[in-house]
Amino acid sequence: MILKKVSLQDDPQLVNVKYEWARELLEQAIANTWFPNEIPLQEDMADWDRMTDEEKQAVTLFMSFFNPQEFRVNQSIAMGMYPYLGSPELVMCLTRQMWEEVNHSLTFEYVMSTIPIDREAAFNAHNDIPEMKAKEDFLLEHVEALRDGKIDPETTEGLQAFVKNIVATNIITEGIFFYSGFMIGLSFRQRGLMKNFGSLIDWVVRDESLHLQFGMNLVLTILEEHPEIATAEFAQEVREMILKSVELETAYNEVLIPKGILGMNCKFVNQYVQFIADRRLEELGFEPEYKVANPAKFMSAASDTVELVNFFEAANTSYEVNG
Ligand SMILES: [Fe+2]
Ligand SMILES: [Fe+2]
Repeated sequence: MILKKVSLQDDPQLVNVKYEWARELLEQAIANTWFPNEIPLQEDMADWDRMTDEEKQAVTLFMSFFNPQEFRVNQSIAMGMYPYLGSPELVMCLTRQMWEEVNHSLTFEYVMSTIPIDREAAFNAHNDIPEMKAKEDFLLEHVEALRDGKIDPETTEGLQAFVKNIVATNIITEGIFFYSGFMIGLSFRQRGLMKNFGSLIDWVVRDESLHLQFGMNLVLTILEEHPEIATAEFAQEVREMILKSVELETAYNEVLIPKGILGMNCKFVNQYVQFIADRRLEELGFEPEYKVANPAKFMSAASDTVELVNFFEAANTSYEVNG
């Protein structure tokens, strides 16, 4: 079984790899290796001087949210996932992900130490702005439920708690909150600003799309091995988590861009949030909720490559984990 109470006696080597998809994602992730200082930011510094206060504020708050959340994702992996994953290929893939999250933090450090962003404001915002803190708390609540081996992965409740943490970490934090941020970050490039920062975001998006695939595959595998946990009630709980995340993100975007920037207002950004949340719902096998068009067409080409899988409301016929 994919989840268990991990023992130090478990075989730590890649023999009899059971979850080939994890090894493939690991190899792909390693092939994607990059470092932030490969991209110089001089032109972006010149752009900064001609940006409006609202635009600067949006970039600052972008850093304020992403920088701590990269670390929170790693806490979720270390405290909420490692204690229950026995297969070395899964652990190695997550260890690689943890390196990438550190690399993302160092990327934001690199940007903040190059462009004259108010670092103190950027560092404090995740505690000072209630709408930002609410998103972080949403994630931490699910990590808290799992930490230090608190759940029994041989029970339905334990497995459901584990799945909810994957939904909170990989699917909502990385797959909805981050994509909303990427869309705003990449809008600067669409308007001819911060294009090197945009290139760094492209690399982060490529990494995050693999993290999202890992999370989706993990949920799928758990449900294949334990179909009894996918009750109607549990499916409803997961769906409601996604809808709740859209509320949190909508409230946050009203703080992030109260007046509108770069020709976008809050409504535009929130329509993208609804669009991406519907994609995540569909990937999990749910009916979409919002049924809106993608207002940010330039994001359709971004590496948002998760294949459709039907976890909760339809049979899995077209998707094979080892396919
Ligand atoms: Fe990240
Ligand atoms: Fe990530």
